Amino acid sequence: MDIMATEGTCVPIVVTVFETAEELDHAAAQWMAERIKAPNPVIGLATGNTPIGMYAHLVAMHKAGKLDFGQCRTFNLDEYVGVLPEADNSFTAYMREHLFDHVNIDPARVHIPRGDALDPEEEARRYEELLNQHGPITAQVLGIGSNAHIGFNEPGTPFERRTHVTRLAEETRKANAAEFGSWENVPEEAITVGIANILESQEVLIMAKGASKAEAVRLTVEEQPTPDVPASALQMHSSVEMFVDREAASRLRADSIVHRR
Ligand code: PGA
Repeated sequence: MDIMATEGTCVPIVVTVFETAEELDHAAAQWMAERIKAPNPVIGLATGNTPIGMYAHLVAMHKAGKLDFGQCRTFNLDEYVGVLPEADNSFTAYMREHLFDHVNIDPARVHIPRGDALDPEEEARRYEELLNQHGPITAQVLGIGSNAHIGFNEPGTPFERRTHVTRLAEETRKANAAEFGSWENVPEEAITVGIANILESQEVLIMAKGASKAEAVRLTVEEQPTPDVPASALQMHSSVEMFVDREAASRLRADSIVHRR
C-alpha cells in the first residue's frame, strides 16, 4: 500500500459528520475494532476527552465476546514529563481506566513513553527505537487540540520531527488543567511521537468534538498544510478519516464533507 501521498501532493481528508457525539463514538469504535481484528494489529492510541466514548464501546464489545485484544500491540502517542505511571494524572492511568484494565491485552505489548524517565531525551530515543522495531502502526487514532496539535506536536513543529521532548503550549496546559488542579501545575514538557511517525501509520482516524475544535478542523481540512497547523500534515497521507460532530464541523464548507450520518 502506498501510505504517503506523492511528495508535494495533498489528498482531501475524508470527513464524516455525525449528528451526535454518541454516534461518532460508536462509529469510531467500529472503525477501530475492524483494525484490531486484522492480523498483527499495531494500534496507535490517544488520550484526552474525545476518545473516552470510543474506548467504552471497545470495552463493551470485548465484554460481549466480540473483540479479542490478545494479538494487539499498542503505542500511545505521548506522556507528560515528570509524571509517574502510577499517578492519577498520567496517561498510563487514563489508559488503564478507560481500556487496559477491562480487556485481555498483554501488558508486555502495551507501550507508553515513561514520563518519569531520568533522561527524557533518552526515553524519546528508546520509544522511537521501539516504534521502529514493532511498527509500522497499522491504525492510529488521534484527537486534535484547539490549536490543531496532534499528539503533543504543537504549532510550529516541523512535519519531519520524530519522537521528541516538547514544550507544551499554554493553551494545551490550560485545556488539561482539570487533571492537575490548575493549569500552572500541568507539566511544561512532554514526550511525544512526531508528525513523521504519525504519517508513517498505515491508516489514521482523527476525531473532533465540540465548537472549540471547529476552527482547528477547518484549517486542517481546507487550508494548505503548514507546521502552524500540525494536523494539516494529515493531508499528505493518503488514508485519513476524520470523524466530527456537528459543532466541530460548523466552520467547514459543505463540499468538504464527504459523509453525513
Ligand atoms: P481532548 O484533547 O480530546 O481532551 O479535547 C485532544 C487533544 O488535545 O489532542
